[in-house]
Amino acid sequence: MNRERNIKRFEELMEQVDRPGKDALMRYIRNSDFYTAPASTKFHLSCEGGLLQHSLNVYDALLGHAAMAYPPDEVDYEDILYTVAYKTVIRIHKETAVIVALLHDICKTNFYCTEMRNQKIYKPNGSKRDNGGRFDWEQVPFYTVNDKNPYGHGEKSVMMIEEFMKLSMEERYAIRWHMGMSEVQNINTFNQACEKYPLVLLLHMADQEASHFMEDQTDNKEEYQDKEETCCQDSDPSDTGFQEAEPIG
Ligand SMILES: [Fe+2]
Ligand SMILES: [Fe+2]
Repeated sequence: MNRERNIKRFEELMEQVDRPGKDALMRYIRNSDFYTAPASTKFHLSCEGGLLQHSLNVYDALLGHAAMAYPPDEVDYEDILYTVAYKTVIRIHKETAVIVALLHDICKTNFYCTEMRNQKIYKPNGSKRDNGGRFDWEQVPFYTVNDKNPYGHGEKSVMMIEEFMKLSMEERYAIRWHMGMSEVQNINTFNQACEKYPLVLLLHMADQEASHFMEDQTDNKEEYQDKEETCCQDSDPSDTGFQEAEPIG
């Protein structure tokens, strides 16, 4: 994972969004921990820069559906066609694809914190021994959730974005429902939302495809890695109003 390259790509994609409040939103993002936060505490991309990588993965997964709708050399990324059984269900403007994919998990900004815990580290010269071999107890960092604004998950992302920039109804619905049926009591409402705005189902699928097929615990799976990468670092999570949401998805 090349975090610096991911930041550049994220910023370039967001450049394509031409909407009042976008610049203020970007200032918020740059001053938050969005570029350094993990995507989860221990599941997919539980590592520095994981949330940023996941957001880009969801964008790629979403665009992957567009690629299926066109011959490979005729992909028109200005408008993304979501097709089912060879018929177009919706035509999505690129700006909408960028917004819903890159910002769907903005609720995870200022949501995680790091704590230390003891862990057995196995090594040949460890001072202790058990069935696994020689080891030492060492302090290692791990992510925990510190939800300072318990407003939900998708709904919180919508709320946070709209503090700065207006969303269309379709975008609101897609981001609010991107976790799909994981909220069991809301299955009927989710199904209704999918029928009203097919983008709801498309973003949910892209989110699932990214976390199940593209991502491992600390990086993308090998076939989805950026081959030219080096490394990443630095973080400056500054204190802004928002914090929170759900650990996975
Ligand atoms: Fe997600
Ligand atoms: Fe999510």
